[in-house]
Amino acid sequence: MSTSTNQTTRKLADGNEIPLLGLGVWQVPDGPDCVKAVRWALELGYRHIDTAQAYRNEGSVGKALKESGVDRDDVFITTKFLPRAKDPVAELEQSLRRLGLDHVDLYIVHWPEGGPTWMWPGMERARELGYARSIGVSNFSETELASVAGIADVMPVVDQVNFNPTAFRRVLLDACQRRDVVLEAYSPLGTGSLLSDATVGAIAARVGRTPAQVLLRWCVQRGVPVLSKSTHRDRIEANGRIFDFALTDEDFSQLDALDRTGGTGNGLEQPWW
Ligand code: A2P
Repeated sequence: MSTSTNQTTRKLADGNEIPLLGLGVWQVPDGPDCVKAVRWALELGYRHIDTAQAYRNEGSVGKALKESGVDRDDVFITTKFLPRAKDPVAELEQSLRRLGLDHVDLYIVHWPEGGPTWMWPGMERARELGYARSIGVSNFSETELASVAGIADVMPVVDQVNFNPTAFRRVLLDACQRRDVVLEAYSPLGTGSLLSDATVGAIAARVGRTPAQVLLRWCVQRGVPVLSKSTHRDRIEANGRIFDFALTDEDFSQLDALDRTGGTGNGLEQPWW
């Protein structure tokens, strides 16, 4: 793998930098649990938080950021446009109000409902207005990215997808690289199911790390920004310690071989809309 062990950020095509490790708050209810998780992550050195309009917890993310005392400019905040609404600009104005911010670092289309392109001019407008420093997509396939490229003035800089050794979307990863789109990983632990995988366990034992650290490292060592979700302080802390060890080429071969998607160019297996 080419990426160096200690690299903790990656440059996006628009010149902005994304921290390779972020805390994801999918399925964390708005309220104390979400505020605590974000506060702990910020205390423990995370500088990247990923929320969404659909998660309904932007208010807690904003509260935690404010209470943390960490400089807003030092934290990379992502939210996502829920494509059941019509207007990405109006929806982002609401998100910013809930977050208590004047801009987010990254605003992405949560999924390509109704097709991949109709919302893109609105996303570009959100960027022009300064509401979002960078814009991108999520759950988009290679083909859907190509459709956006056909109409875009400004290309998405990120495609956030379900990505882990059993969902190693090699064709999508290559397509992203060719288009200068950074593939970002959600569900890096297979929503927890990969933590008991025998291959992952054997590598974890060999390197003296936890299975979660191995799975997160599998992303960041290849330069893929990764969103780790936990509401437990000890797990948030351990999941952050992934920049001080390296997997070998042999570890990568074994983990890559767990793929069950056939190296797909799709963004996900089953659309839910
Ligand atoms: P919890 O929030 O209770 O810690 P993914 O990132 O693939 O979506 O997986 C997230 C799931 O994995 C959550 O259910 C989370 O539970 C759990 N999880 C996160 N980090 C760890 C860890 N270090 N050890 C065990 N489970 C973890």
